[in-house]
Amino acid sequence: MSIRATVKSALGEKNVRLLRRLKKRLLSKRPEPVKPTGLEAISDDLNKLALHFKTDKWGAHRYTQHYQRHFAHLKNQSFNLLEIGIGGYNRAGQGGASLRMWKQFFPKAQIFGMDIQDKSFVDEERITTFIGDQSDPSSLNAVADKIGELDIIIDDGSHRSPHVLTTFATLFPRLKDGGIYVVEDTQSSYWPEWLGSEDRDAPHTSMAMLKRLTDGLNYEEFVDENYQPSYTDLNVVAVHFYHNLVFIEKGRNAEGTNKRSALKQRYAKS
Ligand SMILES: C[S@@+](CC[C@H](N)C(=O)[O-])C[C@H]1O[C@@H](n2cnc3c(N)ncnc32)[C@H](O)[C@@H]1O
Repeated sequence: MSIRATVKSALGEKNVRLLRRLKKRLLSKRPEPVKPTGLEAISDDLNKLALHFKTDKWGAHRYTQHYQRHFAHLKNQSFNLLEIGIGGYNRAGQGGASLRMWKQFFPKAQIFGMDIQDKSFVDEERITTFIGDQSDPSSLNAVADKIGELDIIIDDGSHRSPHVLTTFATLFPRLKDGGIYVVEDTQSSYWPEWLGSEDRDAPHTSMAMLKRLTDGLNYEEFVDENYQPSYTDLNVVAVHFYHNLVFIEKGRNAEGTNKRSALKQRYAKS
């Protein structure tokens, strides 16, 4: 008698059928997906990553909820991100929190940081730091030259209004079409000791510069037929203001809704 026949006669026909059904069920069961643990488990959630890496972009500030919305579509893209202000100021061995957060959130991106202090201890695979002063256009250009294409720029540096303006004027033209430029801590715009102003209409502050961009979005509708659109008029397609945080989207702002000829008649002096 074969082994199979021996087993069958020992167990009985009913038990053999039961065992067959059990085997079928076990084989058909899909393996449970492996649940990510540790850092992997939170790598889609910028609020949690900010807390993990100890950047104040969540907690002291409420920024990462907005970054999540504006950056989610880039999650698995290969691109270059530059953040000005690495953190830790002149304290030895301190800083790099946000660069590490970006590296974890964007697994295929190259992360660059620039700081007036030497932060080279933060350098690792996919993270590169540069020493540079954001108040100096040549310093900003030298860093941009080393990086190449710039897809995201974040200004979290000195937060002095003149520096914010210089950095934007220098680096926004170098941002890729479709890129995103972010300015953090715009509250300093209202503080004279940070080279801002209590006068909310003072033109030299960072908030005044950012608010002007919103008019530029509509330059095609200006009545003045001699108005010459600026670089930002032509290349800013959206400005999003949040509490102390602003996102600027770059793209070609020329929808062709030019109403100047019609407006010329409407406003013609009699
Ligand atoms: C608020 S911390 C950056 C925090 C970091 N981005 C984070 O979220 O973890 C600001 C950094 O800007 C740097 N900084 C100050 N003035 C600067 C300047 N003129 N140019 C470049 N970096 C500057 C400081 O050294 C400091 O490390």
